[in-house]
Amino acid sequence: MPLTYQKYLKLQQLLNLQEPRSDGPEQDEMLFIVIHQVYELWFKQLIHELNFIQKAMNESHQANIFHGFKRILSILKVLVSQTDILETMTPVAFNSFRDRLETSSGFQSAQFREVEIMLGKRNKAILAQFKPSDKEHKTLFDLMEKPCLWDSFIKYLNVQGYDVPDNLLNRDYSEAINPNSELQTTLIKIYHERTNLMEMCERLIDLDEGLQEWRYRHVKMVERTIGVKMGTGGSSGMEYLKASVFQPLFPDLWEIRSNL
Ligand code: HEM
Repeated sequence: MPLTYQKYLKLQQLLNLQEPRSDGPEQDEMLFIVIHQVYELWFKQLIHELNFIQKAMNESHQANIFHGFKRILSILKVLVSQTDILETMTPVAFNSFRDRLETSSGFQSAQFREVEIMLGKRNKAILAQFKPSDKEHKTLFDLMEKPCLWDSFIKYLNVQGYDVPDNLLNRDYSEAINPNSELQTTLIKIYHERTNLMEMCERLIDLDEGLQEWRYRHVKMVERTIGVKMGTGGSSGMEYLKASVFQPLFPDLWEIRSNL
């Protein structure tokens, strides 16, 4: 039997994974499930591509680094624009099945946390969403001990002949990234003399801005759908989400802007 489209993509399994829980079921629950599943698939691809970029940085493979950025940034645009689809769901339509979500929430998306950690976030509190015996708990914990994208990037700059403070090259990876004025001096130099590395910095800024854009669209979607109600995951909802909208991933790249 030759391989078919259905078999290769395991469509039978994939298309059986959408199971609305509401009676009826309510019209919009299918959309709600599909869109979250699609996001999770894209998160999976993002993790795959972030690994690719970090490997390319470690191997000083410039073409692959830029190629990886192009793909990641394209995916991010899709993630942001997908909010348009879910925003066609009215608050009344969401309320018709919201209680069937019980305590489940995007808050518990382990893959979203993986993306954040690979991009440098080091918030141990997110581990509380998982039991210590959960596979996700270990994956996220271990990932926080590893170099993030920024670590690979500054190592790459160093290999390219630029000064990077030793305490950054040998830092404790389980700690968050802090802005560093010595590194900023190097970055400013790069912006004035090395176009290819400056372009790489600009792709990192695109990525940072892209994630902030997703956070903004998500919080507005939350506001228009549930107002100031608490989240199903137990947070204050909109207020909690708003606090993270402008948190940069790569603070040095933002801070140098006033001095370029
Ligand atoms: C009507 C649609 C949505 C509503 C009302 C909503 C609501 C919320 C709320 C209230 C939170 C805060 C945590 C909590 O207490 O539950 C949250 C977090 C989150 N949601 Fe959504 N959400 C929606 C759609 C989505 C979609 C489509 C995704 C895509 C995967 C998503 C991913 C996330 C993530 C990753 C978080 C954690 C953010 C963080 O901690 O910084 N949400 N959501």
